Amino acid sequence: YTMVLLTRSAFSTVQRRAFSSTSATAYKVAVLGAAGGIGQPLSLLLKLNDKVTDLALYDLRGAPGVAADVSHVPANSTVTGYLPDNGGLEKALTGADVVVIPAGIPRKPGMTRDDLFNTNASIVRDLAKAVADYAPKAFTCIISNPVNSTVPIVSEVFKSKGVYDPKRLFGVTTLDVLRASRFISQVKGTKPEDEPVTVVGGHSGVTIVPLISQSNHPDISGETLDALTHRIQFGGDEVVKAKDGAGSATLSMAQAAARFTNSLLSSLSGTPVTEPTFVDSPLFKSEGIEFFASKVTLGPSGAETIHDLGSISPYEEKLVEACKVDLKKNIAKGITFVKENP
Ligand code: NAD
Ligand code: LMR
Repeated sequence: YTMVLLTRSAFSTVQRRAFSSTSATAYKVAVLGAAGGIGQPLSLLLKLNDKVTDLALYDLRGAPGVAADVSHVPANSTVTGYLPDNGGLEKALTGADVVVIPAGIPRKPGMTRDDLFNTNASIVRDLAKAVADYAPKAFTCIISNPVNSTVPIVSEVFKSKGVYDPKRLFGVTTLDVLRASRFISQVKGTKPEDEPVTVVGGHSGVTIVPLISQSNHPDISGETLDALTHRIQFGGDEVVKAKDGAGSATLSMAQAAARFTNSLLSSLSGTPVTEPTFVDSPLFKSEGIEFFASKVTLGPSGAETIHDLGSISPYEEKLVEACKVDLKKNIAKGITFVKENP
């Protein structure tokens, strides 16, 4: 009799575990701008992520086609495409655990990311209003450039709607981290997956600060260090130039965003991940810099621990100083935009 009881209770434990592990890894992810250059490959990569059970693809045009296409990839998730009509944005966002936003125009040769501000600021502001209304608890990940300004735009919109939780808003800087690993592996002839590099600051030009002194190769110095640092800071320009008017990084960016989304989903389901991202940060707040990318430990509530820069070289201290000058202006521009154009 005791045996039977034990067996029964053991069975129900297994059942409970099975149930909780299923529910703990069932997530809805919404992509806003899903039919674009980043949105399409990102949607494919998210379809291949088995933590994603419901994939909502929204765009002004083309999203139903992308959804139909991606939905044939054999993975047990639901993929739905939405357009602005029939409450599409509300439907895409409702119940989303993670919202990823690559909506907006990309650069052409000769442009800076800041040149995208006039067009992308209002796109991001309006999408942020919808996220505040329909998915106020979601983790919101901003890809649209200029990230240094679009993240503050989203925070201002969320504040004005009374839903701002600084732990749940992320500027995606993962592409800088991927580039740093790849470029250092090319210098050293190693495998990029064995070359973690912390990249801090922001996401444009000199605001991108790779901490090579903390990598596996603190020995890199002189012209090699200058060239490597420059390549990481201006890696986006290489792609913009090579695409020659047809846009900026899309495939590598999709991989970067899929990786960051997976880190958030892992953290939500109980496996914390630490990686750089651009967040509302205490690090330089006393100097009037509200947002900064540094290593962040992600957990079920979002950005749980924001790590400081640790010990950095005098070379990197100079880079951080230059970063702060631009970053402060970029952040102020985003905040002012929402104040003047609510
Ligand atoms: P794209 O033009 O190919 O795609 C953008 C998509 O956004 C289009 O399909 C468009 O219809 C859609 N869109 C525009 N306004 C919208 C709205 N209001 N609602 C929904 N969808 C809307 O551009 P892309 O190459 O995919 O780049 C998108 C953005 O990502 C650009 O701003 C680019 O600079 C940025 N980007 C950021 C990083 C990064 O590291 N954070 C890397 C690469 C590109
Ligand atoms: C990148 O880093 O590739 C993106 O920010 C796109 C760009 O404009 O360079």
